[in-house]
This record gives sequence, structure tokens and C-alpha cells, in this order.
Amino acid sequence: MFAVAPLSDSDIPEIVASFTAAGWNKPDQQFRQYLAESSRRARIALVARAEGVFAGYVTLVWVASYASFRRAGIPELQDLNVLPRFQRQGVATQLLDAAEALAKSRADTVGIGVGLTADYGPAQRLYALRGYLPDGQGAQSQGVALRWGSTITVDDGLVLYMTRVLAD
Ligand SMILES: CC(C)(COP(=O)(O)OP(=O)(O)OC[C@H]1O[C@@H](n2cnc3c(N)ncnc32)[C@H](O)[C@@H]1OP(=O)(O)O)[C@@H](O)C(=O)NCCC(=O)NCCS
Repeated sequence: MFAVAPLSDSDIPEIVASFTAAGWNKPDQQFRQYLAESSRRARIALVARAEGVFAGYVTLVWVASYASFRRAGIPELQDLNVLPRFQRQGVATQLLDAAEALAKSRADTVGIGVGLTADYGPAQRLYALRGYLPDGQGAQSQGVALRWGSTITVDDGLVLYMTRVLAD
């Protein structure tokens, strides 16, 4: 089992160092911004620890950056990451359980966007297994819905958004 708690200032150096050691670029500034947004209640950032050691994090925003969620009042999970050495041990499952429970306090549906390349294959499977369904709008590239005949660059901005109804 992992302990899940809100991000605090003292977590940040360890988080940044852990991702750097794993070869992932997660700048200090990103977490400082999450803290600032948390203090004005725009975002919740949750951190998972295994026996005190940082393992992963997820965030939840009440006002989604994806327009379709925003219009529907659907809070959006953003930026789920688990350090490679802690993957396949249930860390993301526990983070999502906690974040979805918080979302449920204010909404009956929660949403998430997932990239379409194989880099996001584990996340695609995880979300499908948890009951997330495509939102029916098709994939978005840099926030714009793909149209038949579009030419796009495949990058992290190519996203399929999915929703889960938060049952009682
Ligand atoms: C996606 C990610 C967060 C999953 O974290 P995790 O802690 O390993 O996930 P869990 O251990 O909770 O996995 C739960 C289930 O999801 C599925 N799953 C997770 N990783 C998988 C993988 N690599 N291949 C296939 N299925 C996978 C499995 O069904 C798994 O259950 P099981 O291990 O009992 O078979 C992690 O792989 C990650 O950080 N990836 C890189 C960043 C990323 O893609 N973030 C999501 C952005 S939308």
C-alpha cells in the first residue's frame, strides 16, 4: 500500500530529483505552479509515497482545460506519472481512487485526456480498465478536433479525452 497525500512544498526537491534520476524532465516550476493553484483551490495535486519514498503523483483541476469538459462542468485529471521503478504496483490505481473520490464531491463525472502513441499505452489500458470511455468527440490535436483529411503532427498534443461516471 502507498500513502497518498496532498503535494506540499517540502515534496518538491525529492520529486524533481527522482524524475531527473529516471531521465524524465519535470521542472521545479511545474510543481510550484501546482502548489499555487492548490492554494487558490483551482487544482488538487496528490503525491503517493511507498514507505516514505516518492513514487508518483496526479492532479485534478475543477475547471478543465479541455473546452468540452469545461462547458459540461466536468473536472479533469491531469498529469498522472509514476516513477518507472514503482510501476505495476498499483500506485496509479491508488492515486486515481483518491482523485476520483475528491472529484465525486463536486461532480458526477470526471474526465481525462490520454495521448495516442504507444508512450501512453499503459495509461490507455489503465483508463479503459477503470471504466473510462471515449467522450465521443474524436481525437484532438493541440486542442482542435481532428477532421477528415486533417494533416497533423503526432506529438503529446494529440489526445483522446475520456470520461468516467462516478457511481455511488
Ligand atoms: C500509466 C501509469 C501512470 C500507470 O501507473 P502504474 O502505477 O504502473 O499503474 P497501476 O500499477 O495502478 O496499473 C493498474 C493496471 O493498469 C494496467 N497497466 C498499467 N501499466 C501497464 C502496462 N505497462 N502494460 C499493460 N497494462 C498496464 C494493468 O491492467 C494494471 O494492473 P495489473 O498490474 O494488475 O495488470 C505509468 O505507466 C506512467 O507513469 N506512465 C508514463 C506517464 C503516463 O503515460 N501518464 C499518463 C498520462 S495520460
